[in-house]
Amino acid sequence: MYIESVQLKNFRNYDSLEVNFDQGTNIFYGDNAQGKTNILESLYLCGTTKSHKGSKDKEVIRFGEEDAHIRMMVKRNELSYKVDMHLRKNKAKGVAINGLPIKKASELFGVVNLVFFSPEDLNIIKNGPGERRRFLDLELCQLDRIYLTDLASYNHIVNQRNKLLKDLYVRPELKDTLDIWDMQMTEYGRRIIKKRQAFVQELNEVIQKIHRNLTGGVEELEVIYEPSCAEEELERMTASNREKDMRMKLTSVGPHRDDLCVKANGIDIRKYGSQGQQRTAALSLKLSEIYIVKQKIKDTPILLLDDVLSELDSSRQNYLLESIHNIQTMITCTGLDDFVSHQFHINKVFHVVNGEVFQP
Ligand SMILES: Nc1ncnc2c1ncn2[C@@H]1O[C@H](COP(=O)(O)OP(=O)(O)OP(=O)(O)O)[C@@H](O)[C@H]1O
Ligand SMILES: [Mg+2]
Repeated sequence: MYIESVQLKNFRNYDSLEVNFDQGTNIFYGDNAQGKTNILESLYLCGTTKSHKGSKDKEVIRFGEEDAHIRMMVKRNELSYKVDMHLRKNKAKGVAINGLPIKKASELFGVVNLVFFSPEDLNIIKNGPGERRRFLDLELCQLDRIYLTDLASYNHIVNQRNKLLKDLYVRPELKDTLDIWDMQMTEYGRRIIKKRQAFVQELNEVIQKIHRNLTGGVEELEVIYEPSCAEEELERMTASNREKDMRMKLTSVGPHRDDLCVKANGIDIRKYGSQGQQRTAALSLKLSEIYIVKQKIKDTPILLLDDVLSELDSSRQNYLLESIHNIQTMITCTGLDDFVSHQFHINKVFHVVNGEVFQP
């Protein structure tokens, strides 16, 4: 699959823009704060309904404007799709595929699949568990629509339960309603844990090979799922933690507290890894993501590489660039030096200057 073109209206610092992409490697270069990342953001948002950095709809609308439009043309299995997104300040966004409005974001996954890779992703190993859970969830949500809805329900229930735990302080008579929340929370929670478990197993099969190649055979990488509570224990633990939860006014066990442990040659690199080790493992995670999506959808996802090359040493840059042929890739960078020194094949180059894009 590939994106043929994108049109933007009042998106971030773009007044109006149209870009026609190549099916191979597209480079967007320019000074800082010119609009390179904004282009990648528009593609990711239009393809997933979410901004890669979690921005709100009203934040992506050009300052002083009321709404923004993104139109993306996608080619998949010889079929053309037109995806239109209309973003409004104080209303929900509208999305249409070939002119027909869609109800669920997941309908887009059958049209376009994107993998976003930003410098922050390189910190996933050293940052907190929340980011590692986010990695798991983003992956699983792309691959499994049921997971997506289960996770949304679970998060909703945990929020409601936490709210109730706070309310109990002033309205102790509501205590019995906890039972129903606990029952539902356990049901969705168990499903989520099971899927995460299976995914991590699958991930290991892929990442071990990638990481071995990336480190020249020096490191063996292992990803271990660390659920806050085992699937079959969730019901019991939720019940036995109830008193504590009521005191703390929050839900102390469940998938919203899970983590991933990453070990290189048997050592937990979250705590004991060098910076380089952590970043390399993060790169392996990201490359595995591409591979797994590719296997699942039986097509290549589109890769958005935001400024990551400058963050990697030359052998890792080479490995990354070599592993992305046959995948449509949009790369942003401040200069073209990296590509010249790598004699890497570029299909199209765009120069981004203050909300305008030129083809030199
Ligand atoms: N809603 C908005 N309306 C108008 N301009 C915006 C809006 N949101 C962000 N901008 C501006 O867009 C500009 C370009 O941002 P972008 O992140 O795309 O830059 P970049 O080219 O990727 O820079 P860098 O090399 O530093 O990453 C910023 O200067 C920012 O102030
Ligand atoms: Mg940027």
